[in-house]
Amino acid sequence: MTGKIKVKSPGRINLIGEHIDYNGGHVLPAAIDLNINFCLERNLTKFCNIESVGFGKFSFDINELKIESTQWKNYLVGVVQEIKKVNNNVEGFDCKIESKIPSGAGISSSAALECGLAVGLNKLFKLNLDKIDIVRICRNAEHNFVGTKCGIMDQFSVVFGKKNKLIFLNCKTLNYNLINAVFDPYSIILLNTNVSHNLAESEYNNRRQQCETALKLINLKSYNFKDICDIPLKTLKTLKNKLEMELFEKVEYVVLENQRTIDAAKSIENRDLETFGKLMYESHLGLSEKYKVSCKELDFLVKLFEKDQNVIGSRMMGGGFGGSTINLVKTSYVKKFLEIATNEYLKSFKRSLSSIVTSVSNGVEIQ
Ligand code: GLA
Repeated sequence: MTGKIKVKSPGRINLIGEHIDYNGGHVLPAAIDLNINFCLERNLTKFCNIESVGFGKFSFDINELKIESTQWKNYLVGVVQEIKKVNNNVEGFDCKIESKIPSGAGISSSAALECGLAVGLNKLFKLNLDKIDIVRICRNAEHNFVGTKCGIMDQFSVVFGKKNKLIFLNCKTLNYNLINAVFDPYSIILLNTNVSHNLAESEYNNRRQQCETALKLINLKSYNFKDICDIPLKTLKTLKNKLEMELFEKVEYVVLENQRTIDAAKSIENRDLETFGKLMYESHLGLSEKYKVSCKELDFLVKLFEKDQNVIGSRMMGGGFGGSTINLVKTSYVKKFLEIATNEYLKSFKRSLSSIVTSVSNGVEIQ
């Protein structure tokens, strides 16, 4: 026994249901076969020594956790802080990390980093945390240490992912159904814009704030909704003249996107992929024009294939302001699709596009 623990922690995709997790609605994510690999061992000191292939080394004292100047480090220190809040039996450790998940691509390398470390430390120090504790610890690390007020979707899918299954998750109750990830004769292809705008974090928190403000104003008018996703479609219409346009558009997007996600889960189960594809295009339009979290590169890629019969669905994926689009492409057309996307993108933005061809896989695993 070497006392070493190896962990494999995946990224995630989200089929539909964007910016819905923190509004108490439904999302449809899945873990994917791109991973961050961890190798952890106790070192019997008070220091945590991290070495990441490609990103470098750093150490911190487990009794003196502080914000680091580079963001990726804060995901890790944040996890240690949040674990200590629920179980103080964690001590110094050495940790090697190698990531195969491109960062900034919208496939949540951050949740993979957080959950991989949390699962590893749980095992190493016999902390007895269950899966949902791990999800919450990692989400809280992001809220309290990193400062992004994210929802629960990313950490949930990284921890609960299952090979070839989509997770149809109710973010209010955390109840979920697994749906077969069968898209034949189509394939899911991601196009990474290689743009990662630095306003992503501040604008993300700003959207969340706007949703909270809108909900308060709506409830002032004699309602008592706990989350925006509780607002029925027929009530939505009556709110139009009661909120300023900017806020109404956010609420409208959220209520409609939640409904689209419920409809999408049904259509995938019924193998009605054309309907699902249309919902993806509608989702993008809402994200771009109402929720305003897209960017010109993402809009360009979605528009490029809107009229192409071989691309039946396309939308931006994740928090937005860069990252990737997720596309439902006829499998026999994928090569051509990538060729067109790469050439046109280069012509328009003088920047190269990367494609991510991935499959739906298990969540975080000890190896
Ligand atoms: C980021 C957040 C998630 C979720 C998505 C948008 O990935 O971490 O909680 O809100 O954006 O759907």
